[in-house]
Amino acid sequence: MPISKGMQGSTHRLCVAPMMDWTDRHCRFFLRLLAPRTRLYTEMVPVAALLRGDRARFLAHDSRERPVALQLGGSEPEELARAAALGEAAGFDEINLNCGCPSDRVQRGRFGACLMAEPALVAECVAAMREAVRIPVTVKCRIGIDDQPVPDALFAFLEAIRAAGCATVIVHARKAWLQGLSPAENRDVPPLEYGVVRRAKEAFPDLVIVLNGGLRTADDIRAALSWADGAMVGRRAYEEPWVLRAMEEVAFASPPPVLERAQALEAMAAYAEERAREGTPVRAIARHLLGLVHGMPGARTWRRLLVTRMHSPDAGPEILREAAAALRAVNARAA
Ligand SMILES: Cc1cc2nc3c(=O)[nH]c(=O)nc-3n(C[C@H](O)[C@H](O)[C@H](O)COP(=O)(O)O)c2cc1C
Repeated sequence: MPISKGMQGSTHRLCVAPMMDWTDRHCRFFLRLLAPRTRLYTEMVPVAALLRGDRARFLAHDSRERPVALQLGGSEPEELARAAALGEAAGFDEINLNCGCPSDRVQRGRFGACLMAEPALVAECVAAMREAVRIPVTVKCRIGIDDQPVPDALFAFLEAIRAAGCATVIVHARKAWLQGLSPAENRDVPPLEYGVVRRAKEAFPDLVIVLNGGLRTADDIRAALSWADGAMVGRRAYEEPWVLRAMEEVAFASPPPVLERAQALEAMAAYAEERAREGTPVRAIARHLLGLVHGMPGARTWRRLLVTRMHSPDAGPEILREAAAALRAVNARAA
């Protein structure tokens, strides 16, 4: 399938989704090693936590992670504007507003997916953030919530945020059901409807539309990019991060630089040494690396060894060098 012409320059051709507890700074640093051109997103940061909590911790990242977007959760324009300005000053490349998360906690705070019912408010939020920053302000949403009509509710939402100056929208191609489903069920139970997102692209050709939801292989990325401006990968990128390399090859029409898995581990060991000087325990980094060997012979043994080592009280960055050596040994045996 041909990759649509004219979209090659999009900054969002391949993205890794914001994922709470998963895409923290250490995970992003790791993914960046594997996929140098993929746009990365932070976990959602609630604005109240950012403005009134440990600001430095929420904004902490490494410039080597870039391009990286800060995802905010909130619905109060003035607070979002202040939070966005902090994000820009901290060096993020984009501010993204979460209009897709269905958790109860988020609904009580009146943000996340329930904002799909309030396009005018989201437009106000976008406008306020755009006033406050020079970097792009983007939105991540669903195709609708509960019994909202499809695609009319999505189209009304896109109309409103486009008028407020949002030029890039990431659409998770399923509804969110705000009652009765857990957040995890809301990522699987409502059916994927890529056709609705495709119609949105046709109806709003000037918007950069990034497809999200259920993309698992390089072929999925190829199919998505035949009509969408970008593809965002969530769970698969975490569970099997090596697949990002094949995805990058498709998205950017050339492979990423040659890299072995063991080299990536060695680079993470060097990174863990830097972080250890700031008091970060190696397990906070190592926990994100377990998917690296997904599908390889000996993967279970290797993973078990790393998990055991990372939880021992005296574990330091050297366990990642040992894990790299163990992986090289497995590869040598398999060769
Ligand atoms: C553990 C986990 C945490 C998530 N946290 C967020 C979040 O903070 N913000 C957000 O917009 N979406 C969040 N999501 C949803 C993903 O960004 C993405 O939309 C969803 O997983 C669908 O993409 P996928 O099928 O490629 O995984 C999360 C998903 C998972 C699995």
